[in-house]
Amino acid sequence: MTDGPLVLGIETSCDETGVGIVRGHTLLADTVASSVEEHARFGGVVPEVASRAHLEAMVPTIERAVETAGISLHDIDAVAVTSGPGLAGALLVGVASAKALALGLGKPIYGVNHLAAHVAVDQLEHGPLPEPCLAMLVSGGHSSLLEVHDVTVGVEPMGATIDDAAGEAFDKVARLLGLPFPGGPHIDRVARSGNSVAIDFPRGLSNRRDLERHRFDFSFSGLKTAVARWVEAQQRAGITIDVADVAASFQESVCDVLTRKAVDAASSRGIEDILIGGGVAANSRLRAMAEERASAAGIRVRVPRPGLCTDNGAMVAALGAELVARGRTPSLLDLPADSSQPITTVVA
Ligand code: KG4
Ligand code: ZN
Repeated sequence: MTDGPLVLGIETSCDETGVGIVRGHTLLADTVASSVEEHARFGGVVPEVASRAHLEAMVPTIERAVETAGISLHDIDAVAVTSGPGLAGALLVGVASAKALALGLGKPIYGVNHLAAHVAVDQLEHGPLPEPCLAMLVSGGHSSLLEVHDVTVGVEPMGATIDDAAGEAFDKVARLLGLPFPGGPHIDRVARSGNSVAIDFPRGLSNRRDLERHRFDFSFSGLKTAVARWVEAQQRAGITIDVADVAASFQESVCDVLTRKAVDAASSRGIEDILIGGGVAANSRLRAMAEERASAAGIRVRVPRPGLCTDNGAMVAALGAELVARGRTPSLLDLPADSSQPITTVVA
């Protein structure tokens, strides 16, 4: 039993209704209800469907989390909630629920940044964050490299995608290959039996000229188009596509660029720890390649377990607990949901 503030966190920025409860760095409950299956036939998250699903799932998910943690709601020290970035309607459900809870219980509320929460969650698994660290956040909605000194104060963006997010590329290429949504885990699985050097797909923003302007930025839309063209050409020629080879070669390109730029970014600032978060951090090839390249550069890598990498409430509670522990000022009760909350704003 460790001490620290007891915080309940709510996450509704996309299609997962997550409620987490932590005490300091100890995870007590992480309950997630996902509407992913309702979106599968559309090949992407439908905002209105997600909002309604959050509304239905919210109360039961809170109840399950409280029961799992074996606490009484009255014992919590604060409520934390993702205030942005994310889908406006989906965020609203979480923010409104958190306000009701905070008001009803007479506890402070922290409206927190979703990306900072992806960073803070690692404390639940590996203890205090190394300060500074280089965070690489790769998910369906974002791909960024961030320099983090104190996650409760702010993070400095070093680079980001200029078009598609890494997870979005996985999802789109999976769709092209006839794999289900969300595609990342399926490409990961299928790629294991494929040849990663079968097709030489392009590495976005990696030639010398691009590196001058976009050293730490990513671009995945050209890669997605290259995969689409390759598949079309094979089909036109009447050749059956080896899905495993395409998946493995595509995945190799994404992981190659992500890990190369992350290690370069860390080295350029003399940072010795890289933390990877977001849904794509669950990718097995990304984890292996990051380990290998970072260790060659004398850099340590931390990746939370897959369940903590995808969206969940525990990450919001983890950041909330750190904010309380460091005495940061809570949000006002009229805090808005901000679909484009900047990464530099940790608490709204
Ligand atoms: O962080 P997350 O749950 O939600 C967002 O904030 O977007 O990330 C979901 C994304 C999806 O694009 C999904 O395909 C991708 O993470 N993903 C993966 C893997 N598991 C999830 N991508 C590659 N390999 C995986 N194993
Ligand atoms: Zn996320």
